[in-house]
Amino acid sequence: MKDLKSLPKERLCKHIAALPKSGIRDFFELVSNMDGDNEVISLGVGEPDFVTPWHIRESAIYSIEKGHTGYTSNLGLLSLRKEICRYLESDYGCRYNPTDECIVTVGVSEAFDLAIRAITNPGDEIIYIEPCYVSYNAEIRMALGVPVALETREENEFSVDIEDLKAKITPKTKAIVLNFPCNPTGATIDMEQMKRIAEIAIEHDIIIMTDEIYSELTYEKRLPSIASLPGMKERCIFLHGFSKAFAMTGFRIGYACGPADIIGTMMKIHQYSMMCASTAAQEAAEEALKNGRKNMEKMREEYRQRRNVMVKGFNEAGLKCFLPRGAFYTFPSIKSTGLSSKEFALRFLEEHKVAVIPGTAFGKCGEGYVRCCYAASMENIKEAVRRIGIFVNSLKK
Ligand SMILES: Cc1ncc(COP(=O)(O)O)c(C=O)c1O
Repeated sequence: MKDLKSLPKERLCKHIAALPKSGIRDFFELVSNMDGDNEVISLGVGEPDFVTPWHIRESAIYSIEKGHTGYTSNLGLLSLRKEICRYLESDYGCRYNPTDECIVTVGVSEAFDLAIRAITNPGDEIIYIEPCYVSYNAEIRMALGVPVALETREENEFSVDIEDLKAKITPKTKAIVLNFPCNPTGATIDMEQMKRIAEIAIEHDIIIMTDEIYSELTYEKRLPSIASLPGMKERCIFLHGFSKAFAMTGFRIGYACGPADIIGTMMKIHQYSMMCASTAAQEAAEEALKNGRKNMEKMREEYRQRRNVMVKGFNEAGLKCFLPRGAFYTFPSIKSTGLSSKEFALRFLEEHKVAVIPGTAFGKCGEGYVRCCYAASMENIKEAVRRIGIFVNSLKK
């Protein structure tokens, strides 16, 4: 076969071919050839280190044992959708009809993709908050929308500055993507900010896409969803899933709830591309909602302890670290070391065998920071923090 690079460009879809690789992938490719990989402590990957609780795994086994091996409804099992809607009503203050306002997807990743494609016409502007999850910018571009980054800053605890948000709005603004608690900063917004964002959305007729994947992993006061505020249900797409709080990344189950016209349009894409999410995984997700709360709360308490140890360790090492309110990431400033984010991450890995992600993987304004995931064992976190102290000290000499 011919070398792919030598083939004419027209062979590929131009706007997809032009997309950069994810900054996280990019970083790991750089380091993949390093020796002694198995001694590395990874604070890189954003994935729970807990195995999915046994009762959830068992329900997937039973599903297969019972011979539930066919497709489900394209929207997902009705029993799961009912459970999801009950959960959103009790925990988020949002009421949805399981028959036409809820769709089960292959992770939040697919839910986000369907939502952005269902609402975006070419040239529509989509505002998203940076630093942010690596997929948002690329997803918007794949849908032929125009990504508009709203930068957040450490001095505001990486929360939304409402005046900055207003300045980004134009007649072409179609939607605002929110993700609180935020990957990578762990920031949240307060009730006042949430209300202001809702007012702006109503005033300018803007859709809100709220990615609530880390919502259960909130360590301070947890707020209801923005979708529950007056006048918001009809303009909000609520995106959520089981990967993080229920430690179910490999099951690949997410969902979206929102107005029936939007969910119906998302359903068309899903129907023609995915058909449905895995049946056994859907049954496991139903079990997670019915009986998984206790385990989820235990994991959250464990993450809280780990967060506290990591933040204290970074601050003691002289890296200013904002106390994240949720998710399982810290985002310490490494500006005092004089290194760039990438240099810091590479040298820390090479010299001390700890993997962290350069902040720039999450947007330009992530320069000067690194993302460290504390969904790692306490033992590894303590050791990583010890090594960071040694590394930072060595840079002073
Ligand atoms: C903010 C955010 N949204 C969505 C996802 C994707 O989640 P899922 O595993 O449900 O596809 C992630 C995964 O890291 C994430 O951090």
